[in-house]
Amino acid sequence: MELREDLRDMKPYAPGKKKSGALKLSSNENPLGPSPLALEALVAAAATVHTYPDGAATALREALSVQLGVPEDQILLGNGSDEVLTLIAGAYLRPGDNSITANVTFSEYTFAVRLFGGVPRYVPLKDGAFDLEALANAIDDRTRMVFVCSPNNPTGGYVTHKNLESFLRRVPASVLVVLDEAYAQYAEAADFHQSMQLLGRYPNLLVMRTFSKIYGLAALRVGYAVASPEIIRHLAVVKQPFNVGTLGQVAAKAALGDTAFYERSRQVNREGLVFWQQAFTRLGLFFYPTQANFIAVHVRRDSQAVFAAMADAGVTIRPLTSFGLSDWIRITIGTREQNELCLKALEGALDTVPFIR
Ligand SMILES: Cc1ncc(COP(=O)(O)O)c(C=O)c1O
Repeated sequence: MELREDLRDMKPYAPGKKKSGALKLSSNENPLGPSPLALEALVAAAATVHTYPDGAATALREALSVQLGVPEDQILLGNGSDEVLTLIAGAYLRPGDNSITANVTFSEYTFAVRLFGGVPRYVPLKDGAFDLEALANAIDDRTRMVFVCSPNNPTGGYVTHKNLESFLRRVPASVLVVLDEAYAQYAEAADFHQSMQLLGRYPNLLVMRTFSKIYGLAALRVGYAVASPEIIRHLAVVKQPFNVGTLGQVAAKAALGDTAFYERSRQVNREGLVFWQQAFTRLGLFFYPTQANFIAVHVRRDSQAVFAAMADAGVTIRPLTSFGLSDWIRITIGTREQNELCLKALEGALDTVPFIR
């Protein structure tokens, strides 16, 4: 068999590394674990796994509709938001069409676009966040979609509501704007985008969210798209019939109602963020202000070597080499105890790994 020619330089996704017994702060998972209500719900549903799931995820869509204040026909569930990306590309890209995103962001936008023969294009980040002005300027006749990640993985920067709306006003109606809000539930900034308010006015806006992060359900693979009824109908055409399993659907619905867990997760993150800001300031390391549950820091050392030294000390973090930042690392914000352990490992690595510039 021969792999399609245009895919031959692509490599399989390399996830945040796991080392057995190590504290994993490399994949932006919830340090508190899953929502307890979600756990209860999935245990209760376990006896039904001999039957197919509800392909329309009716109960979960109803719950999301109430919480988001958006009609059910504007919501589509995916096997993680990763799948939503491939549905979007599958529905809209023709070979040779292009997409635009930032040069330092989540890799799966590029993956989805290339899978369907699209041509990914990039504009530089500005101060760790998407530069919407540059993005709008880069749109041409063959641009079918743009991907905006806010808060951005791996930098944590965000776009303001005002800037997002100005951008949406500029983007041609024929270009889909995919706003990835995987980490939006952690955001604290007063001017952070309220995207649900914009959907009615901009029918080419699609918002993506996930249950993998603040709801602590990464292993269950549940993400969703919120968009115009027309876009949702298009995505449903390319979706597999049973793309989200029953356990994922019931756990996600229960997690959505677990406001105590949600608020605790935000609080732990808020406190952890202060911990890391103080630590990096004391260590004289530059970091990007973040609205997410991770923080990117300029360690000024080979990030693979820092990763290895920290892994030896029992903590895995994410070296940002694959994002093109070879002397930066990204740390998932953990509990107080986890942050302290991670800081110790980082200090050890800073002492042993040679300084670059
Ligand atoms: C920005 C961003 N979008 C989407 C995803 C994928 O999330 P899911 O687990 O829902 O596929 C991630 C996961 O790390 C992410 O960082």
